[in-house]
Amino acid sequence: MSVTSRYREAWEGFWREAPDEEGAVFWDAEPALTVARHLALFEPHLTDPGLALVDLGCGNGTQTRFLADRFPHVLGADLSPAALDHARRADPAGQATYRQLDAAEKAEAQALHAELGDANVYVRGVLHQCEADDRQALADGIATIVGERGRAFLVEPSEAAGAVLRSFAAGPGGPPPKLAPVLRHGIAPGEVADAAVPEFLTAAGLTVLATGTLPLTTTEYGPDGTRIELPSLWFVTGRAT
Ligand SMILES: C[S@@+](CC[C@H](N)C(=O)[O-])C[C@H]1O[C@@H](n2cnc3c(N)ncnc32)[C@H](O)[C@@H]1O
Repeated sequence: MSVTSRYREAWEGFWREAPDEEGAVFWDAEPALTVARHLALFEPHLTDPGLALVDLGCGNGTQTRFLADRFPHVLGADLSPAALDHARRADPAGQATYRQLDAAEKAEAQALHAELGDANVYVRGVLHQCEADDRQALADGIATIVGERGRAFLVEPSEAAGAVLRSFAAGPGGPPPKLAPVLRHGIAPGEVADAAVPEFLTAAGLTVLATGTLPLTTTEYGPDGTRIELPSLWFVTGRAT
C-alpha cells in the first residue's frame, strides 16, 4: 500500500461521520460552480470524449453525477469505502459506477488501465492534502490511467489557500462548522507548493497543455457572510501528441 494507514484512516473517519445532505461537506459546492466551469476548460482538449471518464478521488460523488449526465461511461474512484457509500447512496439509479482505488498505488492504477483502456480523468482537490511521499506516485497513477490518448484535468487549492484556511481556523469562534471536521480528522489542506504540481506531472511523463487560476468555491461562509472561496490552480495534461 502506498498511502499511510493514518492517511487512509483520516479519510475513512471523515467520510464515516460526514452527513449525506447536499452541501454539508466543506468543499462540496454545487456542480454549476465547480465541475461545470472545469468542463468548459477541459472539453476542448479531449482527443476522445468517448473514452471512460474517471473522477479520481470522487468523495461523495457530487461532481461524478454531473459528469455521468454528460459522458457515457463514468467511474467514481476513491480511497475511502465510506466515501463510496455516500456516492452510491446519492446515485440510486447507478448513472456512474464506483470503486475503491488508491491511485498512488502503481499496481491499482495499472489494473484500472488494463480494464478501461486509456481514460479521461477529473481530479478535484486530491493532490494538495495527500502525504508528501505519495504526491509523485499519485501523478504517476494519473499518467498510467490516461495512457496515450486520455487527458486529465486537475484542480487543486494553491499555496495561498493554506493561509486563507488557517486564518479562518484561527478566528475568534474557531474554525467555521464545516471546516472543523476536516481539521479534526487531520486532513491538512493546501500543503503543495504551486510550482511542484507541474513538476510532478512532467516527471510522470505528462505535458501541461493548459493551466490557469480559478476560485475554488466551498459551501462555507466567513464571518462577514460571504462564501469562502479558496485560490486554486487548474491544469489540463496528457501525453504530448
Ligand atoms: C477533498 S476530497 C475531494 C472530493 C471530490 N473530488 C470533490 O471535489 O468533491 C479528496 C478525496 O480524495 C480521496 N483520496 C485521497 N487520496 C486518494 C488516493 N490516493 N486515491 C484515491 N482517492 C484518494 C479522499 O478519500 C477524498 O474523498
